[in-house]
Amino acid sequence: MSSYSQKNTKKVTVSTIKGMKSIEPITMVTAYDTLFAKLFNQSVEIILVGDSLNMSFSGKPDTLSANMELMIYHTRAVCNGANRPLIVFDMPFGSYTTKDRALKNATRVYRETDAQAVKIEGGRKRAKIIKTLTKNSVAVMGHIGLMPQFVRSEGGYKVKGKNEKNIKELVEDAKAIEDAGAFAMVIEGVKCEAAKAITEAVSIPTIGIGAGVDTDGQVLVWSDMFGFFEDFRPKFAKQYLDGAKLIRDALDVYVDEVKTKAFPSKEYTY
Ligand code: KIV
Repeated sequence: MSSYSQKNTKKVTVSTIKGMKSIEPITMVTAYDTLFAKLFNQSVEIILVGDSLNMSFSGKPDTLSANMELMIYHTRAVCNGANRPLIVFDMPFGSYTTKDRALKNATRVYRETDAQAVKIEGGRKRAKIIKTLTKNSVAVMGHIGLMPQFVRSEGGYKVKGKNEKNIKELVEDAKAIEDAGAFAMVIEGVKCEAAKAITEAVSIPTIGIGAGVDTDGQVLVWSDMFGFFEDFRPKFAKQYLDGAKLIRDALDVYVDEVKTKAFPSKEYTY
């Protein structure tokens, strides 16, 4: 455990996160259940209950079929395991298409889970929706750049910020989100120059994934970073553990011991 993790005991709030910009890099990981949320509780500032769970947890080809029920179920489980980090609920595809729908669903998140904020994909086009939520006391994290909920309409996962024009558009998206009252934003899958320009243009923290080192924090999907999701590995997803191999190796030992009747030995017998 790092010395940083050991001193981390205070509850993280939206204000804590806002205050970290340009002071200390923000750490965020996804979690989908109580077991992993407990493991992450002392170490990171933010846990995102990402709709990526639709792929890595539910085996779907993209995030689009996640719905409010699924996300609420997993968020409750995460909240049962983690009481220190800020818990962010990822609003699923179709749940914030209008201001009314967004407010109804975000209100439901606050009523039915202990999440402290919701995340919404989209820049200028979603600014009015974000404003409706923040004006009604819902904390919002934005998400710009590569937005997984646009995978079908854009025909794939496309890295953004590759030219001056697009960098300018991304900066405008980020400013619109900030003006709408978001407390932070995820910047996903953009060239590092673009992420730097966005981070310098706004006064709220930016949290990058595949966006280089110049954002105010980083987020990774737990099943990528710990090597449990093997279907594909994006370039940015550094693997900190070979989780799938560890599990398979341990399982092989168990199967072998059962087959040879080495388990259960006396030690594990009443
Ligand atoms: O759903 C998710 O896990 C996300 C992260 C990639 C930021 O939105």
